[in-house]
Amino acid sequence: MRQRRTWKQRRRLADPIEEHVAFNDTETKIALSGHPLHAMMVAFPIALAFSTFGADAMYWLTADEFWPRVALWATGAAFGLGVLAGITGTIELLMVPGIRIRAASWTHFILAVMLLSLLGLNWGFRLPDPQDVVLPWGILLSALTAAMTGITGWHGGKLVFDYQIGTKSDGAGG
Ligand code: HEM
Repeated sequence: MRQRRTWKQRRRLADPIEEHVAFNDTETKIALSGHPLHAMMVAFPIALAFSTFGADAMYWLTADEFWPRVALWATGAAFGLGVLAGITGTIELLMVPGIRIRAASWTHFILAVMLLSLLGLNWGFRLPDPQDVVLPWGILLSALTAAMTGITGWHGGKLVFDYQIGTKSDGAGG
């Protein structure tokens, strides 16, 4: 007959990451009055990335040369503000032990760097002639960038809601 494993034997299978003393140390350090700067800043590149796609779609529908200029400025600002948001996120990632130790944080970092590369590419691609490049490659690049923004933003939300990363736990409940 197979012997039942003792509690001590079973515990040997425990996840060493979850056992780590730093695992629950996820409180934000780059914050204004306890509100993480990164979470405040990411709204801008997210909105601007989707606006770029919207402006390209408007150009496709109307052929009005106003829209390629909107798309150029929107994607340039999305790139610049995305890099700034990325810097605050990276400092948080490196400084907070409970964020640094989780694989999910590094997944978010990799997704974000891919997104920033797409935002930069979409901007640089338009600089020489913002109107000529929209159809078809500009709008396709904007669609890909918008999809990548959705994935990265969704994953960032997962960090906060699933792992309580970047939150403040003072136990006050409000
Ligand atoms: C480049 C490196 C990046 C790193 C290392 C990073 C890291 C983090 C971290 C640690 C959090 C948890 C909240 C906090 O502690 O502030 C977070 C949340 C989040 N991130 Fe990033 N991030 C990066 C870039 C981006 C970019 C470019 C976007 C999208 C444009 C983004 C979107 C989000 C969103 C939407 C949240 C959830 C915010 C909330 O709901 O409170 N991140 N990120």
